[in-house]
Amino acid sequence: MKITFIGHGYVGLVTASVFADLGNTVWVIGHTKEKIENLKKGVIPIYEPGLEGIVKRNIKAKRILFTLDHKEAIPESSAVFIAVGTPPRENGEADLSSIFEVTKKLAPYLSGYTVVATKSTVPVGTNKKIKEIINQFKSQKADFDVASVPEFLREGQAISDTQSPDRVIIGTDSKKAEDLLIELHEPIGGKHILTTIETAEMIKYASNAFLATKISFANSIASLSEITGADGVGVLEAVGIDKRIGSSFLSPGAGFGGSCLPKDIKALLGIAKTSGYDFGLLKEVNKVNDQAIKGIVNKSKRLLDGNLENKTIAVLGLSFKPDTDDMRDAPSIVIINSLVKAGAKIKAYDPVAMKNAEKILKRITFSKDCYQAVEGADLLILLTEWNEFRQLDLVKIKKLMKKPNIVDGRNIYDPKKVKDLGFAYIGVGR
Ligand SMILES: NC(=O)c1ccc[n+]([C@@H]2O[C@H](COP(=O)([O-])OP(=O)(O)OC[C@H]3O[C@@H](n4cnc5c(N)ncnc54)[C@H](O)[C@@H]3O)[C@@H](O)[C@H]2O)c1
Repeated sequence: MKITFIGHGYVGLVTASVFADLGNTVWVIGHTKEKIENLKKGVIPIYEPGLEGIVKRNIKAKRILFTLDHKEAIPESSAVFIAVGTPPRENGEADLSSIFEVTKKLAPYLSGYTVVATKSTVPVGTNKKIKEIINQFKSQKADFDVASVPEFLREGQAISDTQSPDRVIIGTDSKKAEDLLIELHEPIGGKHILTTIETAEMIKYASNAFLATKISFANSIASLSEITGADGVGVLEAVGIDKRIGSSFLSPGAGFGGSCLPKDIKALLGIAKTSGYDFGLLKEVNKVNDQAIKGIVNKSKRLLDGNLENKTIAVLGLSFKPDTDDMRDAPSIVIINSLVKAGAKIKAYDPVAMKNAEKILKRITFSKDCYQAVEGADLLILLTEWNEFRQLDLVKIKKLMKKPNIVDGRNIYDPKKVKDLGFAYIGVGR
């Protein structure tokens, strides 16, 4: 099948590459000349494990093609996927300007029959507006249907998530569009949920809201365990064994972040507000998350006798989770800014996110590795559970540090082992 993706970020480029790898001819439309020229050479603008190899393989096979020109890609395509960003506006609602901008641009080039499918996370009613815009700007002869096909991939494991998803949501009111999308998704498996456009749009927000709720629940149990003397991590492990609950997203830590959960919760709260529904539960989820992030700063103060002024703090891990360079809404940003505001000097290290972090975190020093970061530090804060941090030479770390203090924001170290080595240690909920 010939298909097009608009947007070559974490969703657009990954999904386009996976469909190309399955034998489809896939056009990818961007709007930055430099990025498109790089992509043509196999230079990808994001870090995602395994992605570069797939892109290069499919460029060679001429199955993935990059362009700035809608005219080159759209008329050829049976389906056009919109995968542009939907960042939050000041008031939290999803900013849909890119969605509507690309819809206006693609509409005049539709020819024959095309399914215009939205992969981006958009509020209920957005695809209806997309349909109206296309009807306004398309040529008379062009025939089309719209569909909501929300994406659920996780950064860091986006390729395997796309190759074998748990479910594929196909929301459309057209049988023809549904059949075409079923055929396209056939080789990747996963349960097909055939539904209305509005339901598909809402499924994505509901999924992310539930994941965030699980994390905030875990962090609440962790906080209460810290006060009562229970082992919060042990409690949650035991709770997660129950098949009705499940263990994923039930680990306490330094709060959730990233390009999806915080933004989608804000957007869902916005949808609730305009619909006249008070989604109090979700407001609390956000509040608990803010507390979890602030909790790391409070724990740091505790280990440094309440005074961060002129203290050197090594921060290991900056991206919102391991195996990604994505810094959007990473808890590290809030935590580091608070520490800097309180007078601390930050030396940070992250295996891949430092290039993106440099654009956001201006008043800190970046180190070439963990050991350089901890040199002379009064405290080590672990914020992202990258594998390379799991088996650090802690004896060497202790020697390099000025004071052996650790705040383990992701609970990756064994408290007993670390304390036996002479560190003062605080985890989350332990
Ligand atoms: N990142 C994730 O893990 C993930 C998972 C599921 C769903 N989503 C959703 O998918 C959507 C895209 O997310 P992402 O993480 O890929 O974003 P991203 O920022 O990585 O990529 C967005 C892409 O859109 C392009 N773009 C923006 N405006 C454009 C325009 N006017 N014309 C052409 N291209 C334009 C950008 O250049 C970029 O390539 C969002 O709605 C997001 O919520 C993201």
